[in-house]
Amino acid sequence: MNIHFDPVLRIFSISTDHSSYVFGINDKGILQHLYWGDPVAAADCAPLLGSRSHSSFDAALDREAEEYAYWGGLSYMEPSLKVRWHDGVRDLRLDYEGYAIEQQDGRETLTIMLKDEYYPLQARLIYTVFPGLDLIERSAVIDNCGSQDIVLENVQSAAWTMPVLPRHRLTHVTGKWSGEFQLRNTDLSEGKTVLESRRGFTDGHANPWFAIDGGNASEQSGQVWFGALAWSGNWKIVAEKTAFELVRVTGGINDFDSEWTLQPGHSFATPTFVGGYVSDGFGAMSRMLHRYQYEVVAPDRGLRKVLYNSWEATYFDVNVQDQMELAERASRLGVELFVIDDGWFGQRNHDHAGLGDWTVNSDKFPNGLGELIHKVRGLGMEFGIWVEPEAVNPDSDLYRSHPDWVYHFPTRSRTELRNQLVLNLSMPEVKSYILSFMSELLGQHDISFIKWDMNRTITEPGMHNHPLNRQKELWTRHVHSLYEIWAELREKFPHVAFETCAGGGSRIDFGMLRYADQAWPSDNTDAFDRLSIQEGFSYVYTPKLMTCWVTEEISGMNKRATSIAYRFHSAMTGTLGIGANLNHWSKDQLAEAAALVDQYKAIRPLVQEGRQYRLGMLKHKGVEAVQYVGSDGNGGEESVLFAFLHSQKLGDRLPRLLLQGLNPDKGYRIDGIDGVHSGQSLMRIGIELPLRGDFDSLMYHIREQ
Ligand code: GLA
Repeated sequence: MNIHFDPVLRIFSISTDHSSYVFGINDKGILQHLYWGDPVAAADCAPLLGSRSHSSFDAALDREAEEYAYWGGLSYMEPSLKVRWHDGVRDLRLDYEGYAIEQQDGRETLTIMLKDEYYPLQARLIYTVFPGLDLIERSAVIDNCGSQDIVLENVQSAAWTMPVLPRHRLTHVTGKWSGEFQLRNTDLSEGKTVLESRRGFTDGHANPWFAIDGGNASEQSGQVWFGALAWSGNWKIVAEKTAFELVRVTGGINDFDSEWTLQPGHSFATPTFVGGYVSDGFGAMSRMLHRYQYEVVAPDRGLRKVLYNSWEATYFDVNVQDQMELAERASRLGVELFVIDDGWFGQRNHDHAGLGDWTVNSDKFPNGLGELIHKVRGLGMEFGIWVEPEAVNPDSDLYRSHPDWVYHFPTRSRTELRNQLVLNLSMPEVKSYILSFMSELLGQHDISFIKWDMNRTITEPGMHNHPLNRQKELWTRHVHSLYEIWAELREKFPHVAFETCAGGGSRIDFGMLRYADQAWPSDNTDAFDRLSIQEGFSYVYTPKLMTCWVTEEISGMNKRATSIAYRFHSAMTGTLGIGANLNHWSKDQLAEAAALVDQYKAIRPLVQEGRQYRLGMLKHKGVEAVQYVGSDGNGGEESVLFAFLHSQKLGDRLPRLLLQGLNPDKGYRIDGIDGVHSGQSLMRIGIELPLRGDFDSLMYHIREQ
């Protein structure tokens, strides 16, 4: 049993293998957070329980450490729940009512019931723990038990209270199109620091994840508290620090321009907010989150295939001949999945037209898609295809027939981004249009992979089909409908793998990843730029989910030239893909690429299923390095190291690189280096990196002897 309630002390404790999370019911009947960190005895937390105050202006400091802060009475911090009753009253008083503990499939769930002291509202706080993971999944369900509507003005998933630390350093990612997942950190000062999306989906500017440490945690050491939200629409994570040394991180659906009318007898369930604690650094945090994805969020569907995607090769200039030629070359390289990108449908010869018309373009494919699919299958590869179902070009048959199917305000012009508008997914006819063309596409063709794109944010958020006083539900309704569509398609077509993409790496979060098998992290395929994007991605998301393409020698983004080996090594640190125009590659280039694909296949289980270690010790020398450790399938250990040098300077030799994650008492052989090396020496004395010049790279396959 991981979850306990002490009825005398009125204290709940949630234990994982290496952490304790403790809260209690105080003398005011309020759920008060007490402790989160290395294991402790719950009873030892008893003295922490109770009300505190400082002055009449700071009269209920205990409410700052509330497990789920309701807005009402003396509560001035970021609330978790704020409602408006039918009679205009805007004040909540939630009393503790009871709890339940359930066990299922090794998981244990605690539900705490809170009830308003006057109005018919119940809040259920849900905590779930999983065997072997130092994580707690939290969410809330709000029930309207009465006969009048209740408006939820703000309903958050959970609030995480941090311990007192000398500093509270917040680590997060920021970015933009083609520059996603850039790591940042900042010390919290008194006030609020807000990470959020207001654009309709999780987007490249921020990702719904945070980590807090005392300012001294490193990759391999130090306490780190962290959390990530499973929501793919507008979300918000608020880290708030008070003058009384309290830091609370509240997260959930963004309350900006958002409301939900909870009708009598209905419930509203928030997305989950998973939180965790580790005592051994950011590397351990990431590996914990990776295991969570493998075991809970997206239980395994096997190794991801080496794919080819024709976007950068042909853009909109798609035709059956070129695609068949590309497919032939791709199959000779050892590619397992051939994906045709944008441009195969309607009048989609550029990004000004055709989006929404999901019928095969007969000029480009006179014999339908079947001809290309047949060819691809005959070459021993699977076939995948690009779609962008949530958007429409005004220059399309769909829009001409249904101009009212998009989000809009009647008195405003419709802002176009990439010449497109967003379909109103809350309309049943729109949802069934998407489901029916997708079902037809997947039902009538031998397709095993869908790249689902979304290339613009939401503007003019009006739903003409929805009551005027409930327009602010749009942001949430879009995501609910999207999840329902993906769930239905996954159920109907279980053999099809899905990739989430939104103008590059915009829609990647634990909400989407319940449905998606992999994610396109960025439209930037410059192999050097990708290293920092992929590093930021790896803080939260697994290498297996991360699709990486090898593209041309000169990157379109920065006009930087890199070798084939460098480009491959960069892309081999995740799920390998190729996106170059192979029809222009020479025999020698193709032969080198084929050998690298082979090498990838040999180390693929390590990259995609092993433990990942970021080796940042030579960053100051321009070296990025990442290592994966897993089992060799015969009871031994195996590892692979990738290292990249930006540019050598002043003839400097590089200091030795210390490896991680090996068994100190075992001996290892490294391909290309003589002798047997103990794990201890590899991790404490390290290895020399023969990297020279500009944009050099290496891959070492390391096997237990
Ligand atoms: C987005 C995606 C690209 C590609 C194009 C097609 O930008 O991120 O990978 O699919 O759309 O229009």
